[in-house]
Amino acid sequence: MKQEYAISHWPDSKEILENLRVLANELPVYQINRSKMNEYLEKYESKFAKSKQMVELAKQRIPGGVQHNLAFNYPFPLAIAKADGAYLYDVSGNRFIDFLQAGGPTVLGSNYKPVRDKVLELINECGPVTGLFHEYEYKLADLIYSHVPSAEMFRSLASGTEGCMAAIRAARCFTDKKFVIKVGGGYHGWSDQFVFAMRIPGLGTLDSHGIPEGCFQYMQEFYPNDTAALEKLLKDNESKGGTAAVIVEPLGPESGTRPVHRDFNEKVRALCDSYGTLLIFDEVVTGFRVGLGGAQGYFGIKPDLTVFGKCVAGGYPAAGGVGGRKEIMLTFAAGIQGLKKRAMVGGTLSANPLSCSAGYFAIKAIEETQAHLKAGKAGDRLTKGLQEIFKRYNLPFVAFNHGSICHMETGAAMLMELSNPKILEQVEIRRKVMEELGAALMVEGIITLAGSRIYTSMADTDDVVDDALERFDTVFKHFEPVQEK
Ligand SMILES: Cc1ncc(COP(=O)(O)O)c(C=O)c1O
Repeated sequence: MKQEYAISHWPDSKEILENLRVLANELPVYQINRSKMNEYLEKYESKFAKSKQMVELAKQRIPGGVQHNLAFNYPFPLAIAKADGAYLYDVSGNRFIDFLQAGGPTVLGSNYKPVRDKVLELINECGPVTGLFHEYEYKLADLIYSHVPSAEMFRSLASGTEGCMAAIRAARCFTDKKFVIKVGGGYHGWSDQFVFAMRIPGLGTLDSHGIPEGCFQYMQEFYPNDTAALEKLLKDNESKGGTAAVIVEPLGPESGTRPVHRDFNEKVRALCDSYGTLLIFDEVVTGFRVGLGGAQGYFGIKPDLTVFGKCVAGGYPAAGGVGGRKEIMLTFAAGIQGLKKRAMVGGTLSANPLSCSAGYFAIKAIEETQAHLKAGKAGDRLTKGLQEIFKRYNLPFVAFNHGSICHMETGAAMLMELSNPKILEQVEIRRKVMEELGAALMVEGIITLAGSRIYTSMADTDDVVDDALERFDTVFKHFEPVQEK
């Protein structure tokens, strides 16, 4: 099937990476003017008082009062009561333009009615789970295959984290090799082995608390885009048990926060082929968002295994799975297999009728509405608008996008280099800048992901984007460099 992709043009990764390097490592930190920020914080307290009350109560039973990694904690999280298309509404009825989109799964916009109606029909008939086979498991797997031909078979799981865990297990089981190599700074969920080299390349196990060192014995990282370093690892590993898999986020680590060069994935594919190593694409974010064929369709690369998440359940719970080459996927075969070698995966709720039907109808709806292209167009318009705002106010901030996945780097905490002598002194300040920006934007009626990423959806019409840009402008006009003491 001829497919179109949401990335209208490939942004110049070399230029972006250089601008990000300078922003994070060489320039002074910029923050919102102090008196304006105090004004924002006062408004935050009064406008969102009801959320504060609820979160204070929640803190008695829930650590920190908030459970979602992506929820803003500063100065306190909001309690959301309603989601609809491009908008979220809090418990006091305040409306926000929703650029979090639940962290990515809702390309159709939040709570899309045609999908909801189908899911409700299924729940009325069958309930969300039975523990036995349901026809939507097959329908979803077949639909995925029709768009992503490398996914000859598909195994549903409960999350992207589980998908990544399962993919490396199958890779080791199939190849009989030991090492798994990831890109420094990449995110592949929070399982023991993957809480390694997260956020900042080179971090290794420095931030891997609560996990025994032994877990990382066969995990390695290489610096983003450095395929020579990858080749060296592959070569060195040959005498030490070999490399089972290289896993990449195809746009770059952290959903493209450090974007890949256009030919990166092709080079990694070739290296994997020469060393008998499997290539795993983590398409948890990019699958069905960059296009129905995922980032692999856009780049024209065939990975051996693909991890899916988010969109694969259309914004409904239990979103995850692995797809890939038949002979590798057969290591997952369920049921009692005697002593046959297999990669054990499971889950009481995996492949439940609710998630599979939600994913099926959502992907069908994306196909019918071409939601990914509309979301991508909104991402282009928004990014261009942000770049104009930064220019207008002479701010060194960097905005770029791959379709509906947009990056807005201000504090750029994750873009600091480990070799930067100021990293310990500045990383907190830079994180604070992003938190404050997030809080100010919420007062102005916009929700983003951690003050640095934006997911657009089909619901983001030109009017929604233009309205958002006016609100961004209101906040960005108050930024100024922090005076060094
Ligand atoms: C690239 C990538 N892989 C894996 C995951 C983990 O998925 P989940 O949160 O469903 O466990 C995420 C989550 O954001 C992700 O962005």
